[in-house]
Amino acid sequence: KTVAILISGGGSNMVTLVDSMLNDPGHPGRPCLVLSNNADAGGLTKAAERGVATAVVDHRPFGKDRAAFEAELVKPILNAGADVVCLAGFMRVLTAGFVSQFEGRMLNIHPSLLPKYKGLHTHARALEAGDDRHGCTVHEVTPRLDDGPLLGQAEVPVLPGDTPEDLAARVLVQEHRLYPAVLARYLRGEHAMLRLS
Ligand code: GRF
Repeated sequence: KTVAILISGGGSNMVTLVDSMLNDPGHPGRPCLVLSNNADAGGLTKAAERGVATAVVDHRPFGKDRAAFEAELVKPILNAGADVVCLAGFMRVLTAGFVSQFEGRMLNIHPSLLPKYKGLHTHARALEAGDDRHGCTVHEVTPRLDDGPLLGQAEVPVLPGDTPEDLAARVLVQEHRLYPAVLARYLRGEHAMLRLS
């Protein structure tokens, strides 16, 4: 199966997904495209270094016209013939129209224990709430934001004195474990929830 990965920044999750596929001849997935809405995304260089095709569709020229942006964004994904799309640090909200083209074959990683803390600033919100556990979730993408069927979760402790940055760094380590594990199972048709602790 071919996998397109959408990024907006450093792409550390993308790197772990790409490396998990390139380093395992038995892996059911092969990376076919890394696509960013940001020409300056550091992940683009990391993808190119790994021999993975890259593309950029900058969202800014489209202003508030999400549909027009997405009509361009979908082209390199279709041209690459991606079977599965992984959102990995992709920071644009996608409309139902875009998501519906990839029903049942689009994944996202979100830095919270969904259904808690959908949306942004998840680490600060977990600290604010006084949670003693936090973590990340991989889910299927459906038209409702951060809402699709859960495929995997990894937990971390919240420690006294944690800042949002401390928590984000602890969660990111688990994202890099969780996403590759979930993707390999997902491509093999195993959709049962994976829990890493
Ligand atoms: C990180 O905050 C991560 O929690 C979230 O997206 C952000 C950037 O990740 N998934 P990446 O390094 O670009 O994969």
